[in-house]
Amino acid sequence: MKLIQAKNYEEMSEKAAAFMIQQVQSKRNSVLGLATGGTVIGTYDRIVEDFKQSNTSYSEVHTFNLDEYVGMQPSDSNSYHSYMDKQLFRHINLPEDHSYLPDGMADNLQEECQRYEQLIKDSGGIDLQLLGIGQNGHIGFNEPGASFDSVTHIVNLTESTRKANARYFESIEEVPTQAITMGIATIMKSKKILLLVSGESKAEAISRLINEQIHNDNPSSVLKNHADVTIIADEEALSLL
Ligand code: GLP
Repeated sequence: MKLIQAKNYEEMSEKAAAFMIQQVQSKRNSVLGLATGGTVIGTYDRIVEDFKQSNTSYSEVHTFNLDEYVGMQPSDSNSYHSYMDKQLFRHINLPEDHSYLPDGMADNLQEECQRYEQLIKDSGGIDLQLLGIGQNGHIGFNEPGASFDSVTHIVNLTESTRKANARYFESIEEVPTQAITMGIATIMKSKKILLLVSGESKAEAISRLINEQIHNDNPSSVLKNHADVTIIADEEALSLL
């Protein structure tokens, strides 16, 4: 794993955006794996700024998001569909039918998981997967204990994850209890992975990732088995190392 240090959130976001833009410029039809959450917002902002000022084109790019809540309409302001549209999709020239997220409203959720996994395969696979990390080491919504062999599946969210994500909702009761997420094996099949880590609340997670043995108690530790992972972390996140 390659670790790039950044001073703060802004610098981390600049470096991360440059990394993603470089991917798209070097392969116009890149397949990007995308993440949601607070950590990646600054990266998307900078990708949008770059799009307005430069010739970076997303017309041949396809995107797959890591996850979506179960039981939430795509139009709900807390859905990851809405998040992606607001933060990125509507601002760049990515064709509407080139972006994919799991359908958390599907009648048959099992079938939806299989369909999503197959779509990723059919795309030729993810060239670059962007990741954040949960305080408990989750990646996507693969919570502690998740199998390293898992493909896209339905998960029950832990209380700590629901609490951490409650800041986007009126109350914790409104945070869904389940999600569809790419599995750990799905994520590990990506050709390159870019993990972003910012702030004191993630210091323990990154320190565990770097210092602990690979174990599914800490899902992020699996990244040590991947041949091409870059971590961009800010000073606060690195404060325990
Ligand atoms: C959610 C998402 C993850 C994300 C994590 C961290 O649980 N499913 O993909 O990495 O939150 O979010 P944040 O960046 O807001 O801390």
